[in-house]
This record gives sequence, structure tokens and C-alpha cells, in this order.
Amino acid sequence: MAEKWTPDGWRSKPIQQVPDYPDAEKLAAVEAQLRNYPPLVFAGEARRLKAQLAKAAEGKAFVLQGGDCAESFAEFHPNNIRDTFRVLLQMAVVLTFGAACPVVKVGRLAGQFAKPRSAPFETIDGVDLPSYRGDMVNGMEFTPEARNPDPERLIRAFNQSAATLNLLRAFAQGGYADLHKVHQWNLGFVAGNSGARYADLCNRLDETLAFMEACGLTSENAPQIRETDFFTSHEALILQYEQALTRIDSTTGDWYDCSAHMLWVGDRTRQPDGAHVEFLRGISNPVGCKAGPTSNPDDLLRLIDILNPANEPGRLTVITRMGAEQVETKLPPLLRAVKREGRAVVWLCDPMHANTVKMGDYKTRSFDRILAEVKGFFAAHRAEGTQSGGVHFEMTGQDVTECIGGTQAITEARLGDRYHTHCDPRLNATQALELAFLVAEALKEGRTQARMMAVS
Ligand code: PEP
Ligand code: CO
Repeated sequence: MAEKWTPDGWRSKPIQQVPDYPDAEKLAAVEAQLRNYPPLVFAGEARRLKAQLAKAAEGKAFVLQGGDCAESFAEFHPNNIRDTFRVLLQMAVVLTFGAACPVVKVGRLAGQFAKPRSAPFETIDGVDLPSYRGDMVNGMEFTPEARNPDPERLIRAFNQSAATLNLLRAFAQGGYADLHKVHQWNLGFVAGNSGARYADLCNRLDETLAFMEACGLTSENAPQIRETDFFTSHEALILQYEQALTRIDSTTGDWYDCSAHMLWVGDRTRQPDGAHVEFLRGISNPVGCKAGPTSNPDDLLRLIDILNPANEPGRLTVITRMGAEQVETKLPPLLRAVKREGRAVVWLCDPMHANTVKMGDYKTRSFDRILAEVKGFFAAHRAEGTQSGGVHFEMTGQDVTECIGGTQAITEARLGDRYHTHCDPRLNATQALELAFLVAEALKEGRTQARMMAVS
């Protein structure tokens, strides 16, 4: 029998990756303030996402999860939110239309402000300071003042998340996402091949919409054409913040973390007896768990037992991030074990976090390795007879130069041109769209093969 759960139960468990707040009283005051703030999302919305994720677990939908590695206070601007949302919509259209599969859209947005770090301290010229842990915790500047964890930042992160979510809801439901606007979503700088392919896809979509209109299906009478569901997610790292936003849903009596629709636990904080897993197990939102190269089948099954004891489809998403080199060897044993035990999970591929390399002064990722991991992920699922549920990208709508390769052929020498990330390197709009076309192709191919196997 699982132990009784309370929102503060995590406090008595071993915890990794937490900031050392010097002022405990100030932190407690901020937590009390946050507990009185309104929820950012509603339980019913989280259940709606869970139902859509359940479809992805069965192979009847595909999940597109993406956004910043770390949102920042400095980059908070409506144009940045719009551009990330727009690229996600474009990618979703490419996937839906290209692979004839409903796409579940989940942003790494409106709450993705905290980062796990490989070392608690950073040393520059003999000076040791606490590592930067995301704008929700401390500042990036290498000064003692900036690096000091400040609880007030939790309030600022909440306010930015609320404003971001407000705009996202308006975009998703207020007409911007109407499929008749796909041409207008095209970004001026979406370059070369993927820009042309996108324009071609839009023309075909226009024809389809005209046909549907002739059959009587219009934006006015078919809300699916006029608006879209768009969900938010982030890593549940700063548990004081997550606990303060955890509320009982009056319709079901269940606990929901109302800071986002979906929360996940990272590769560094997924210890089965640790604080982060303890927190996630008791909330009723759909939850995720990263699985990196050190994840073995027994550990994963144990985590699944804790996070999804009722084996509820859509409740748990496993986000694998093995690296292009290791995906072929590390992923199949996990898929096999989960299938053997009959556990329902959504499998997502995060081809970002195990493909990061250092080039000169910059952390970067190569487009080819990202694509190679996605392809390896699809191949492993095909071989094991399991469902590839979707992809998880770090990306932005801005024209940054943080990942190398793609049709723009960004080289090492150009990384410094527009390298703006607050943490990991992100795909830019062109690279993200290009990847969507390649994923759509791989998905279509996989589905055709599965159909052929079913009839033969
Ligand atoms: C992340 O998603 O930003 C992250 C830190 O990932 P991981 O936990 O997989 O390293
Ligand atoms: Co990251």
C-alpha cells in the first residue's frame, strides 16, 4: 500500500538540485503569498490533456512538446511568446497534415524557469559562486548579488507565467490559430527549402479547407478549424513553488498542481525515494519522467509503479534522452520491459539533452545528431512493436544561432552571431520547422509499414 500523500510530504525526503535559500523567513513569506494566488490552470484542462495523451499512448495521436530550455525575465516579450507559439503551430500543421495524425500541443512555456545543474558552484578566475539555476532562482550574471537565490523571483516567475498563459489562451482560442491563417503564420526568415515546403503544404491545406467548406464545415460551425487546445508544461524542480500552487479540485476532491497542465521530473531528480518523485506521485495532473542513458529497466518499472500505480493511460509520459549514439542500445530494453509488464506510458523522444557538445565557448547541438536520435527512436519502437508517442524539443521562434547545421548550415563560426539562450542551445524557427517535416516523413513511413504488416 502506498503511503498517504500530502502536498508537503516531499519535505521529509532526500532532495537534489535545490537552491540554498539564505533567508528562510523570506522564503516562507513568499510561499504563503503564492498559496493565496489564483491557479494558473484548471483541473479540467489537465484532465483534457490526460485524455489526449492517452490517445498518444495507443498510437492514435502524436505529442509535440517544445519551447525554451529556460524562460527568462529578460526575454519576456509578447513577440517572443507569439513567435514560439507560431512555430509550434506550424510544426503541428506539418505533422497533422503530413502524417494525418492529431497532434497534442504542449509548450515548455509559462513556468519553465528553473534548471538542474551539473555542479552546484561555478568557478571563474578562482572565484566560486553558486551556479545559475534559472531566473526563478537567481540571476545569470557572475556576481555574488545576482547568484544569491532570491525567493521574490518565485513571485516574478508566477506573474510572468500568468501573463504568458493569458496570451497563449488568447492565441489558441481567439482566432489566431484558425487554420485559414496558416499562410500568415509564415515567418519572414523561415529560409530555403522548409519555407518553400511549408508554402506548398499551405496551398494544399487551402484546397482541403475549401473542399470542407463546400461540404458545410467552416470556422463558424467547426471549432476544430477555428481554435486549438494548447497546454503548458515545465520541470517541477522548485517544489516550494509547486506545492504553493497545488490545490484540491472541488469537482473530484483530487490534488492538482495548478502551475501547469503537465509537470515532469528531470533526469537528475528522478530518484524513486527522492523528494521530486514523492511530490509528483500525489498530484493528479499528467506527469512526465525523463529517462537518460543511466536509466535501466528495473529503475524505470519502479518509477512507473510509483507514478502510475493504477496504470492509467495518459497519466505518465516517459521522455527518453539517450543521445544519437546510445539510442539504439539503451532504448529497446526499456521498451521491452514496459511492454512485457503491460504498463501504459506515452513515449516521447527528447533528442536534445544527450546531444549537447562544447564548441569553443559555446554549448551547441548538431541538427544531424538531433535528427539521428529521432530516427533511432522511431526505429526502436518499430522493432519492438511499441508506439512512438511524440517529440520533445528545445526551440524558439527567434532566429537564433545556437544549434549547428540544418539547411541554413549554421557553422561553429556563426554560433556567436545570435546566441541568446539562458541555458541550453535551442533550435531556431527554421531548424524546428525543418525537423517537423522530417519527423512527419518518418511518422508516415512508420504508419504505412505498420498498416502493410497488418494486412499481410
Ligand atoms: C531539460 O529538459 O531542460 C533538462 C534539464 O533535461 P534533463 O533532465 O533530461 O537533463
Ligand atoms: Co535544457
